[in-house]
Amino acid sequence: MIEIEPTLTAAIEVARTAGAILRQGFGRERTIEYKGEVNLVTEYDRRAEALIVSALQERFPDHRVIGEEGSDTGPEESPYSWLIDPLDGTTNFAHRFPVFAVSIALLERGEGLVGVVFDPTRDELFAAGAGLGARLNDEPISVSQTAELDKSLLATGFAYDRRTAADNNVGNLARFVRRCQGIRRAGAAALDLAYVACGRLDGFWEMGLHPWDVAAGTLLVREAGGRATDLAGDEDYPSGRRIVASNGLIHQQMLDVLRTP
Ligand code: IPD
Ligand code: CA
Ligand code: CA
Repeated sequence: MIEIEPTLTAAIEVARTAGAILRQGFGRERTIEYKGEVNLVTEYDRRAEALIVSALQERFPDHRVIGEEGSDTGPEESPYSWLIDPLDGTTNFAHRFPVFAVSIALLERGEGLVGVVFDPTRDELFAAGAGLGARLNDEPISVSQTAELDKSLLATGFAYDRRTAADNNVGNLARFVRRCQGIRRAGAAALDLAYVACGRLDGFWEMGLHPWDVAAGTLLVREAGGRATDLAGDEDYPSGRRIVASNGLIHQQMLDVLRTP
C-alpha cells in the first residue's frame, strides 16, 4: 500500500526541479528536432524527462516509470506506474510562447493516485491525491459553477496528425464556437485540464491525446469536483484518446455537441 500524501510531496519536488530546468531553457538557443511533420522535440524535453525518471527510480525502485520521450523503466508487472510528460506544450516552448508545464502522475492499475501539473512560468503548482482533493499552490481548488454551455469558456487542442486525419477536431470547433462564450487553444493539454480543475475554464475536449497528457490533469479535475470521460461518457480515462473534461454541470451538453454529426 502506498501512502498518498508523502508520494504526492515527492512528485511535487520532482516536478519543481524539472520545471526549473524548463524555466532556465525557455527563450535560449536550443536544438529543435521533428518527431513528425508538426511534432517537435527539444533538448529540454529530454533533459527534463531524464531528471524526472532518475529521481522517481531512485525514490520508487519498485515502480514502472513511463515518459513521453521514450523512457520505460522499472518492473513491467508493478501495479504502480508513473506517467510523465516532461514538457507539455513543446510547440509553445520552441516558439517562446510562455504556456507549458511538467505533468507527472502515479497510477495504481490504471487508477490515478497522484497528479501534479507545474507551470514554471507562473510558478503555479497544481496537485491532487486520490481522496485528498485538488490544490493550487497549497490552496484547495474546485471546478466552476457554470451550468449552461451557452455561458461557458472552453478549451481544446489539435493532435499532431491534424493535417491528414479526417477526425481532426475542426468540425467540433465549428460546432462549439456557436454554442459557448469562448474557446481557447493555449497549447498545453495538462494545463487546460488544470484550468478546468480550478474553474478558469468550464470545459475542455480533445481528440488525439496520450495517457501522459491527461493522467495528472484528469485526477485534478475529478478531485476538484468535475468529470473527465471519453466521448461516450465512459469514466475509464486515460485509456482512451478522446477526452471531455468539465465542471460536471455542462458535461452532458458537451457530449451532445460532440455527438452531433
Ligand atoms: C501536446 C499539447 C497540445 C495538444 C497536443 C499534445 P506536447 O503535447 O498538450 O496542447 O493539443 O495534442 O500532444 O507534444 O506539447 O507534449
Ligand atoms: Ca503533451
Ligand atoms: Ca511533451
